[in-house]
Amino acid sequence: MSHLSKIEEIRTKAFSEIESLGSYPELQEIEVIRVRYLGRKSELTEILRSIPSLPQDERAPVGKMGNLVRKQIEDHLNAIIEKAKKLEQDQKLHQEKIDITVPGKRIEEGGLHPTTLTAQRMIEIFTKMGFDIEYGPEVETDYYNFEALNVPKHHPSRDMQDTFYMSDDTVLRTHTSPVQIRTMEKMKPPVRILSPGFVYRHDQDISHSPMFFQIEGLYVDKNVSCAQLKGVLTEFFKNFFSEETRLRFRPSFFPFTEPSAEVDISCVVCKQKGCRLCKNTGWLEVLGCGMVHRNVFKAVGYDPKKYTGFAFGVGIERLAMLKYGISDMRLLFENDLRFLKQFRTL
Ligand code: PHE
Repeated sequence: MSHLSKIEEIRTKAFSEIESLGSYPELQEIEVIRVRYLGRKSELTEILRSIPSLPQDERAPVGKMGNLVRKQIEDHLNAIIEKAKKLEQDQKLHQEKIDITVPGKRIEEGGLHPTTLTAQRMIEIFTKMGFDIEYGPEVETDYYNFEALNVPKHHPSRDMQDTFYMSDDTVLRTHTSPVQIRTMEKMKPPVRILSPGFVYRHDQDISHSPMFFQIEGLYVDKNVSCAQLKGVLTEFFKNFFSEETRLRFRPSFFPFTEPSAEVDISCVVCKQKGCRLCKNTGWLEVLGCGMVHRNVFKAVGYDPKKYTGFAFGVGIERLAMLKYGISDMRLLFENDLRFLKQFRTL
């Protein structure tokens, strides 16, 4: 067979093989054909390589025809490769298509609990005045919860706070005041601490919960005065509620302070015009406080002649209720999302 008809045959075979790939060839299949017809060991390459050894008059036509067919096969394959690549890309795009009109999935945003928000604000104000944070255990010994705070066994004042007993001498702390003792035991004056934490009392109605959150304050140094107690608390409430908030100190009794007082603030709802919340008195009771009792100093080894101090204990839920206008304390413990969501952006 002459070289020319051989080349013609190669072209026919190559083209029909390319046709047989069908409309959706894979790139790999195309590569196989390319190697078979145009590769280094292909018949066509062999023929082109043998040209120098051909008779003079055959060289030009064989070379011309060989190169032409080579180019034709190459073009044909390239066109098909292009098509296959485009197809592959289209498929990918189709599979990965993103419908930007589909509504997004809403991520529910969390928020802090109103009691936490209140505690944070309180801590913020007191720490600006120089108080440091201290923590104490919720399961407390009788000694720290009562004894060292000048509440002897069988003293009637123990009845002021209905206690959950864990055993004869361990209790769920009824107040944060034991942290006063724990702190003074481990450091010398000046002591200026704030102690937030949960406390427990056997008591439950719309304004009492068996577990609630208190913040204890304690300041002990030389020459700490009643006037300073009044100043610090006044400053606190003006910052916490508003500048027009007024304070009233009512004589009271706590075994661990002498003198003791209960603090009322001017009603945040009616501004002292009289309303249901303040029972028309214009005043709301918010905390207990006083000057640290000398027996408390003795219990921790401080010299009562050298040091004086003040302490206060304030219920956080109560302030949260006043601040946000919450009428039932139980809402703060039920964790009903319809209620809690209202504080999300605060
Ligand atoms: N511990 C008292 C209570 O829980 C509050 C208080 C603290 C009073 C510090 C005086 C001094 O009721």
